[in-house]
Amino acid sequence: MPTDALFSIPKSPNVRLITITFEDAKIMVPEGISVAAALLTGGARSFRSSIVSDAPRAPYCMMGVCFECLVEIDGMPARQSCLIPVREGMQIKRQQGAPALCDAAMGDDHD
Ligand code: FES
Repeated sequence: MPTDALFSIPKSPNVRLITITFEDAKIMVPEGISVAAALLTGGARSFRSSIVSDAPRAPYCMMGVCFECLVEIDGMPARQSCLIPVREGMQIKRQQGAPALCDAAMGDDHD
């Protein structure tokens, strides 16, 4: 659930804003920033829950190393939100525990 943002991105007339959805809440964010930066700007404090303790987790390194930023993006689980740029209309959800293997994650030719 988005709360007060930890930081904000300065507004500029040259930056185009796009709309993404996090846990059914719409957030306006600058085009081209990472999903993690967009969610932090939107006030998200928890991106996933630990598979061991169910404790809330959030981005730590912001450069693809720690895997603390995993979220579900457009139905695809376990996406590193710090490495993926936002796109208009993206649907993002918290990663709850271990991701389930699904057809989307396995690709179409996994028989
Ligand atoms: S924040 Fe560390 S991998 Fe994304």
